[in-house]
Amino acid sequence: MRVFSGIQPTGSLHLGNDLGAIRQFTDLQSRAECLFCVVDLHALTVPQDPAALRAATLQVAALYLACGIDPRQAVVFVQSHVAAHAELAWLLGCLATTGELGRMTQFKEKSRGHESVSLGLFAYPALMAADILLYRSTAVPVGDDQRQHLELTRDIAQRFNARFGETFPVPDAFIGKVGARVMSLQDPAEKMSKSAADPASRVELLDPPAAVRAKIRRAVTDSGREVRHDREAKPAVSNLLEIFALVSGEPVAALEGRYGDGGYGRFKADLAEAVVAHLEPIQGRYRDLQAAPDHLEAVLADGAVRAGALADPTMRDVRARLGLLPRP
Ligand code: AMP
Ligand code: TRP
Repeated sequence: MRVFSGIQPTGSLHLGNDLGAIRQFTDLQSRAECLFCVVDLHALTVPQDPAALRAATLQVAALYLACGIDPRQAVVFVQSHVAAHAELAWLLGCLATTGELGRMTQFKEKSRGHESVSLGLFAYPALMAADILLYRSTAVPVGDDQRQHLELTRDIAQRFNARFGETFPVPDAFIGKVGARVMSLQDPAEKMSKSAADPASRVELLDPPAAVRAKIRRAVTDSGREVRHDREAKPAVSNLLEIFALVSGEPVAALEGRYGDGGYGRFKADLAEAVVAHLEPIQGRYRDLQAAPDHLEAVLADGAVRAGALADPTMRDVRARLGLLPRP
């Protein structure tokens, strides 16, 4: 099994990224060959301030390590440091069709209300397919919102193999059962997101304890006072229960048993403490990494070399199969 995944350096990482994606990365790293990428080229599909992009790229890389990704096991690197991502994206973009790219939910959402958007935003799934296929990856841990992009990656891999001969394994999405879709604290019908306007809708991994407590105190709940997991009837409380279970390691049923019909007050207060306790070691390691920036730089430099070495043979093979002349 070879694993690839990536997170965009846009805004601050939140509990959804941690519980939906990074938690699976750390589970997989001791069992499989893993590559974890900061996908800066994806961030450029919408306008970015250069200084903010630079800072966010380093921050996501540092949070990977702070959340427990071990660069001695996994390859941790920045997408734009391996030029083959962009090259393969062009080649695969010539196999993807405007019809299938136009059907992507994320594209429709991000382009809604705009008369015209960047070509990059439209072509984004071809770049994501390139990220994954460049390393002949077989498993891709992501949150539920990336399912459709993964399907398209599989279609592109199959299409390439059918036209030019067996080249890419067809990768599987690797989506957790709980945590794959952490919802907004302000609207349980929306997923927790870096880009939502209201910062109270998400707990960021670097939020200080006072902010975490305030956000959880203000989180919307459902009518009634019973702490029960029922996504249909009690979507807000169910989301809080799932977050509680994931950060504390206790099963949802045990939490239901403890808080039952005791009302939401004590439940929320304890949840806030559980989240604070979960974030504390992550924030401590993050501060250590900030204090010694050379370490992170060395990790990313080494990651770029290791990733590049894995990408080269794929690119040689792909170029030859497509009929491009070998490089002199
Ligand atoms: P993004 O924040 O869009 O760069 O997503 C990075 C990773 O986190 C992807 O694997 C997403 O599927 C995952 N992710 C983002 N938001 C959530 C969420 N609210 N719940 C679960 N996973 C999420
Ligand atoms: N599109 C993903 C997101 O927005 C990020 C991403 C880019 C990715 N390339 C990837 C995820 C390759 C997994 C594999 O969350």
